Amino acid sequence: MIGVSRRLALGGGLAALAGACAAREPDGLASLAARRGVRFGAAAEPQTLENDRAFAALVAAECAGLTPENHLKWNVLRPRPRAFDFGPADRIMAFAERNRLAVHGHALLWHEANPAWLSHELRPVAAEEILREHIDGVVGRYAGRIASWDVVNEAVERNDRRPDGLRRSRWLETLGPDYIAMAFEAAHQADPAAVLLLSDYGLEYDDERWMVEKRGTMLTLLAGLRRRGVPIHGLGIQGHLLGDRRPAFGRDFRAFLGEVARLGLEIHITELDVNDQNTPGDVRQRDETVAAIYRAFLDCVLDEPAVKAVTTWGLTDRYTSKTDMFPRADGQPVRPLPFDRALARKPAWQAMAQAFNR
Ligand code: XIL
Repeated sequence: MIGVSRRLALGGGLAALAGACAAREPDGLASLAARRGVRFGAAAEPQTLENDRAFAALVAAECAGLTPENHLKWNVLRPRPRAFDFGPADRIMAFAERNRLAVHGHALLWHEANPAWLSHELRPVAAEEILREHIDGVVGRYAGRIASWDVVNEAVERNDRRPDGLRRSRWLETLGPDYIAMAFEAAHQADPAAVLLLSDYGLEYDDERWMVEKRGTMLTLLAGLRRRGVPIHGLGIQGHLLGDRRPAFGRDFRAFLGEVARLGLEIHITELDVNDQNTPGDVRQRDETVAAIYRAFLDCVLDEPAVKAVTTWGLTDRYTSKTDMFPRADGQPVRPLPFDRALARKPAWQAMAQAFNR
């Protein structure tokens, strides 16, 4: 811990870049990233922020951004048709505002986490109205308070075998491919200041053929939206990385980021973590492997000036959805994030700090 006076002195200098906040550590990830013009943040849930004070303090110290991990999804906001339940979302917004964290909204349209009623009601005559009602209601409520949105999440699925590569989601099947433009128009109308992203996974690895092909599909989609004047401002790259794969983020990924930037779009890394379900070795070795993957990925993406935000999917191994979704066969707890379960900085934290400092 450093002295108060040095904190204030440093904090003053960084304040202009990062947005002043008393709780933010001058050597935390948000402060380091801000010097690169990048906003560092993490995803979290309202209940852990409210019930775990040490965790809440860590988020305030290390982050400049906050993504509600689950509480802006349809299944939470829209338990019943025509009604909204903003309770949990309002609670996480209150935490963000108390701690001056820029909120990233996740996600307006997705093929998962939808209430059962939605697929019954989504018929061609009603679908556009339902889409607009939802986006007006949600984006409108938080207008001026949510900095950026995943407007459409995971719209591309080449396995669905459409010539345009779009996923055959309920939205696509009822409204056709224009549902994407409709969603962006509605979000832009509801909050003209919000940065609007199309977000997806499976774009990161140079040695995975389906991902390389998906990049091509994504570029065509983004270029088309831009050409038509659709109000889209960026690409969200989720960044769910794998702890048992070579970190193949090389020339091709770097070139892809450049192509996205040339379309006049920002790039946000929206859900970064390293899945260590199958990473071999003891804890020390696993942590080193995970750290090296963070470092290789960030060295590549931070080279592109269009990258404006890096968000990890969780901040500490104490709270990560990987625990339930990707448990290890050896029964050891998973360690996908920069802080361990005791909230101490891990080698992954050091790797991220070094990448931001480079
Ligand atoms: C996950 C959450 O982390 C879990 O808590 C939840 O049970 C399921 O959703 N891609 C996304 C995120 O866009 O919304 C997902 O989040 C992870 C994959």
